This record gives sequence, C-alpha cells and structure tokens, in this order.
Amino acid sequence: MNKKIKGFSKLSKDKKLDWVVNNFFNDSENAKKILRKYLNNDEKLQKLHDEFSENTLTNFYLPFSIAPNFLINRKVYSIPMVIEESSVIAAASKSAKLWSELGGFKTKVISKIKTGQIHFIYLGEKEIITSYFNSVKSILIESTENIISNMKKRGGGIIDIQLNDKTSDMNGYYQINISFNTVDAMGANFINSCLEQVSKSFLEKTDQYNEYKIKKNEIKVIMSILSNYVPDCLVKAEVSCEVKELNIREEYDGFCEKFIQAVKIAELDVSRAVTHNKGIMNGIDAVAIATGNDFRAIEAGIHAYASRKGKYTSLSKASIENGIFNFSIEIPLALGTVGGITNLHPLVKLALDMLDNPTAEELMQITASVGLAQNYGALRSLITSGIQKGHMKMHLINILNSLEASESEKKLAIEYFKNEIVSNSNVQNYLIKLRKSDEV
Ligand code: MEV
Repeated sequence: MNKKIKGFSKLSKDKKLDWVVNNFFNDSENAKKILRKYLNNDEKLQKLHDEFSENTLTNFYLPFSIAPNFLINRKVYSIPMVIEESSVIAAASKSAKLWSELGGFKTKVISKIKTGQIHFIYLGEKEIITSYFNSVKSILIESTENIISNMKKRGGGIIDIQLNDKTSDMNGYYQINISFNTVDAMGANFINSCLEQVSKSFLEKTDQYNEYKIKKNEIKVIMSILSNYVPDCLVKAEVSCEVKELNIREEYDGFCEKFIQAVKIAELDVSRAVTHNKGIMNGIDAVAIATGNDFRAIEAGIHAYASRKGKYTSLSKASIENGIFNFSIEIPLALGTVGGITNLHPLVKLALDMLDNPTAEELMQITASVGLAQNYGALRSLITSGIQKGHMKMHLINILNSLEASESEKKLAIEYFKNEIVSNSNVQNYLIKLRKSDEV
C-alpha cells in the first residue's frame, strides 16, 4: 500500500480515479464502479461539489433528515440535520415534541464577539513596544478599511484591538488581540484577512514611527489567525416545567431527581462528562453540517469552553427549585448564515430556507436548543430503559442491511425484534433460521 505519486493534484479527475483504483484495490473495476455511482449526473452540480475541495473523486452521502416540532421562543421549527448515527434524529424529535407540549425552548444570545490574534516575539523593552502599539493602534484599524467596508455596512467590523503581554509565558511573546463583530457571517476569512493586514501594517509602520527606534526585523510575527475559542459568542437555551408534570409525562416517579443526579455526575466526572457532551454534539454538529457551518471549529470551541474552569465538565445544567425542573445549556457557537458554502451548496440553501433564513443569532439559538433536546433524550433513555433499547432498534436496519436481508426479511425481522434483544449475532441467527424456514 506504500504508493507514492508526484503531481497527483495536477492530474485530471479521471486520471486521479484511475490511479486510485489501480493502486489500492484488487478489484479495480468494482472500486471504480462504486466511486462513479456516487457522482451526480447533473454536471454543473457535480462540478460545484468537486470544487468545494481538492482532489475530489466522488461524493460522500450522509442522510439529510428533519426533526420536526421544535418550539423555540414560541416559533415552531422543523430542523434539518445531517447525521449518520441511528436514533439521533428520533431522540431529538421525541424530546422536541415533549417540550413543545411543556412550553418549548427559551433561548437567548448572551454575547456575539469573535477574536483573532497576531502572535509575535519582541525582545526589547516592554514600554517601547507598548508605546509604539498605542501610537499606531488606530492606524492599524484604518489599514483594514478595504477589507471591512462591506462588513461595516452590515453593522459589523472591528470592535477592539489590544496588546497582550505574554512574556511571562514565553520570552518576548506578545499578542495583538482583535475582537470582531461578523454579523451573520461565521467570518473566518474576514477575520484572517484583517489580522494579516494589521500584522503587515504593524511591521511597516515602524519606519514611520522611528522615534521608538524599533526596527522592522526586531518584531518577529509568528502567525496571525482567528481563534476558534469563542467564550464571548455565547448562547443559552433552557426548558422548564413542574417536576410533578414531567414525572407523569415520563411515567416514572422520581424521574426529575434521577435526571439531576445524572447531570451532576457529568459535572463531576470527566469520563461521563465527555460522553454526556458528545451526545449534545450529536445534535449541534448535525445542524451545523446541514446549515453549512464548520463543525470542527464548533467542536474545538465548545470542548475548550467545557474546560474553561480548569476541569472538563458538563455543558448542561439541571436543577429543581420550588417544584420546578429546569434544564439548560450555555455554549459558545460561532455560526454563520451567509458566506462560506451557505449560498453555494443547494441543500444548505434549502436547510436555511426551511429555518426561515435565520440570522446567525437565530441559528445559534436553534442549534443550542437541538443540543439541549439531544442531551435530554440521551439522559432520559440512560436513566430509564438504558440506551441500547432504542439505539439497537434503530440500528437493526443497519445490521439487516449489512447481512443483505431482503425487504420481506427486513419486515419480518423488525416485527420479531420488537420484543427481542437486538445484537449482531441474534439478528444473524434469526436470518439463518428464517432462510431455512419457508416464511420468505
Ligand atoms: C451516543 O451517540 C450519545 C450518548 O452516549 C450520549 C450520552 O451518553 O449522554 C447516548
């Protein structure tokens, strides 16, 4: 398998495909057939997808699903979600329905600031670099004028710029921290372009401001990049109702109390916290992908936020006060509803349309609600029937497909496993027996 190639990216798409199938598969014809099967017949659409990335060979499908009945701030949403894991959509939909009957999700955007940093090394006097920075500060912002003019028209731009002394962490290390309002854009390219421009001006202006006697080459810019840590781009979502009512709805006396203990465990124990938060991310990532957002950035930012107090902990909280059950989540979510692939990918456009073309703030609130619903659904299963019952029921179809069951076999198996434990071996044994009998 140790195959190397020079200039792969310069080959035509057909040649790339040939190289791959001829070098990595025993049955190259079959590999080619599969890769080609996922191409779209609409050439224009295929080209669009090819150009999202480099070295594209084909498309990779994921289910595009809908979780209906989300009541968020008194508005009902059907939420598009892209995810492959069985039972995530079912869990989200079930929680959404329950909470829509109990008043729905209440959400609010707490703050919406993103930041980026220019990291540099300067080994001279702190007073000198600080005075120089203070003198050129407004010029640095002005130097981004061309980049930010459109963003300014939409109400965004640079909020603040400051110099941070990090020399106690590393010899000579400073950073210029810039905060931004990117309105409805996720704004990664915008922020990075601004940072690179500021970095350039910061060096160039040393010639003009020669009273500080800083030579350009005394400032060593290491890098200029946005931060995916966005603790000031925060959204909160919550649900609440009477303890009595929820216990009745869940047909489980002591449901709320047990639920709170489950959340408490996730607050205390990192092994549980990671899985607890992973369940939340099932919902958040699925909405992020459907709406064309960068789920890797979101994941990185959220997990860092979960550790902001020095220990990784639960993103959600639950409490009972005066007979009222409250369940909430507060997370950083840097989302965009314009730019990136939001106005390029036809399914993303449809997804945003279904959500009534939300602003970035609205999408933050929708997404946080889905995360909370997902967490509620997972905890409900975990503290009642256990997760496997629902999960394996949904996964049954995957097992049947992997065993190449026919449609009639699937129908019979689904009926049979309503009251049986679903496992790979049980399903396999069931099919063997079924195929021996005359039933199909
Ligand atoms: C599975 O994808 C997610 C869960 O493990 C989340 C949780 O344990 O809370 C069910």
